[in-house]
Amino acid sequence: MHFTVAIDGPAAAGKGTISRAIAREFGFAHLDTGLLYRAVGLKGGDPVQAARSLSSDDLARDGLRSLAAGEAASRVAVLSDVRAALVDFQRDFARRDGGAVLDGRDIGTVICPEAEVKLFVTASAETRARRRWLEAGEDGSYKEVLAQVRARDARDSSRADAPLLAAPDAITLDTTEWTVTYAIEAAKEIIAARLATCA
Ligand code: CDP
Repeated sequence: MHFTVAIDGPAAAGKGTISRAIAREFGFAHLDTGLLYRAVGLKGGDPVQAARSLSSDDLARDGLRSLAAGEAASRVAVLSDVRAALVDFQRDFARRDGGAVLDGRDIGTVICPEAEVKLFVTASAETRARRRWLEAGEDGSYKEVLAQVRARDARDSSRADAPLLAAPDAITLDTTEWTVTYAIEAAKEIIAARLATCA
């Protein structure tokens, strides 16, 4: 069975948490595509070469989840040749047997426009910054994290190639006022309903 769930949205909107819960619930494989860009950003040197030669070791290294890696990722993610080098891997993953959930910025728009379910998970910049700041162990100031979130949103949304955008047929989940449990339940319901139509 091929069944792809595409989950896009800005930094710290809850995509990762929702994706992992969905993968567990439905037995799908999960790919956090942000990790690919983070690994390219951290590798240093020529980013296009880094993207073309990305290995499983690169994806397992320490520090990939740090704020600095997120920043480096969004800088290399504006480069079309970097994005192009990562397309086939993501598409193959999406169509693997047994179903797959991919989260990122351009999954529903560019990587898998044919995905069976497309979600756009978002929240206010203030809420997302607070989550990131708490996640990072309240390291640094909340205001700094908010500025970083806003800068990353602006860079991701304004780039020419594959900007952060909801696909026209994506369902938007605004998690600003939601608990994690509620957000996960909302996503599960949408996927279960779609799966039932594919059976
Ligand atoms: O976890 P968080 O949402 O902060 O970031 P991430 O999903 O790990 O992505 C880090 C950066 O990689 C983003 O700010 C984007 O610039 C880039 N990215 C992208 O361009 N396309 C994707 N499919 C995934 C990430």
